[in-house]
Amino acid sequence: MILKDLKIIDIIQDGRGVARTDAKTVFVENAIYGETLDAEIIAEKKNFLEARKIKTNIKSKFERKPPCPYFYECGGCSIMDINYDTQIKLKKNLIKNAIKKSTHLEIEDIEIIESPEFAYRNKIHLQVDKDGGLNYLKKYSDEKVKINNCLIASDYIGQNLGQIEEISKEINGKFDGVITEISIRTNNKDILLNLYGTYDKDCQKYIKKNWQNSKFHINLIDRRKAYAINGNGKLDFKIKDKTFKISADDFYQVNQYQIENLYGVAREFLGENQKLLDLYCGSATSSMSINDDHIVGIEINKNAIKDAKENAKRNGLKDYKFIAKNAKFIDSKFIKENKIDAITVDPPRAGLDKEVVKTIANAGIDKIVYISCNPQTLARDIKRFMDRGYELKKLKAVDMFPQTMHVETIALIQKM
Ligand SMILES: C[S@@+](CC[C@H](N)C(=O)[O-])C[C@H]1O[C@@H](n2cnc3c(N)ncnc32)[C@H](O)[C@@H]1O
Repeated sequence: MILKDLKIIDIIQDGRGVARTDAKTVFVENAIYGETLDAEIIAEKKNFLEARKIKTNIKSKFERKPPCPYFYECGGCSIMDINYDTQIKLKKNLIKNAIKKSTHLEIEDIEIIESPEFAYRNKIHLQVDKDGGLNYLKKYSDEKVKINNCLIASDYIGQNLGQIEEISKEINGKFDGVITEISIRTNNKDILLNLYGTYDKDCQKYIKKNWQNSKFHINLIDRRKAYAINGNGKLDFKIKDKTFKISADDFYQVNQYQIENLYGVAREFLGENQKLLDLYCGSATSSMSINDDHIVGIEINKNAIKDAKENAKRNGLKDYKFIAKNAKFIDSKFIKENKIDAITVDPPRAGLDKEVVKTIANAGIDKIVYISCNPQTLARDIKRFMDRGYELKKLKAVDMFPQTMHVETIALIQKM
């Protein structure tokens, strides 16, 4: 069935446009914010419809020609077809609407620290063809789209992509498409390649013999186990006056221009001289950028905790403890015993486990600085804190992901 003259009034996080009919909300693939279009229904759900654009009737005044030739096919970016000011406006609305829906708080305006629009990513993850060609996934699909460049990847990745493809082509040509995915991470001096696949001994030997002296650091990742071919599987990164060793599977913020801004806002919200508990601390880049010393960090990834300890040592911290543990198993007794003054949390998209909110509130912690990559779960968790006697004091966002509907939000939540 065809829906006629739908006005696209918003964009959701996966990049689909939002329109309303008298009966239901419609989520429209390939829609541009602000345009009026006809769309074909592709799925009918209880509370909403899913549709695909057939044709534009009235062009959006926010539209621009996407500078990337792969944009219309590639699933990497979703809103490169509207100008950056409008992208920021949409992200503000996304955060404000999420907060309003969960907490009924009306936020008048929210500051978003803007990013350079292109060449910001220090890491990209690509699919590899049987013949070694490099691809992203297509929009709304598991199919691949071949790319020779990526405008949001750092220039250094762009300059080296051809040579990286030569490696994947040679290996996949010889070993029947053994590499299935590649992640490329850079500090703009060195590049670390994670080659994902299933490698037998002959294949490992061949790769070692040919690339152990490569200009790239190379890891083979076989069912989550890593074999270092060249380098030790880690890269050094600098944030302000501190340096960090980051292993291949450690989380590290991807926008190289905005990392200091993100942690800077958290630092500003937190204030000085606190004993800090950093839940979901990764390899302590956040903890040590937000607080100079006196840190207890909790993180589920054992490897990241090893790196966190090394990072604390190399930056001369005196009072620190990093523990490999699921954050939901931290209890109020632990918080009190460690004389914690304030807590930062930076969870994955799913947000905080209910238990974490309960534990923090029971320990009577005054200040929580919440760094979030998902406004919906942030809003849900703010409401959970509000139900336990806290209030939302401050909110700011940092655009870590131009050309997509993703955004990082930082909230200061304080005891009333
Ligand atoms: C968004 S990252 C933040 C890392 C760090 N704060 C930073 O800025 O680099 C979330 C981190 O939470 C960790 N994590 C995921 N689930 C966890 C859990 N249940 N308990 C503790 N850590 C967890 C992940 O391994 C990841 O390092």
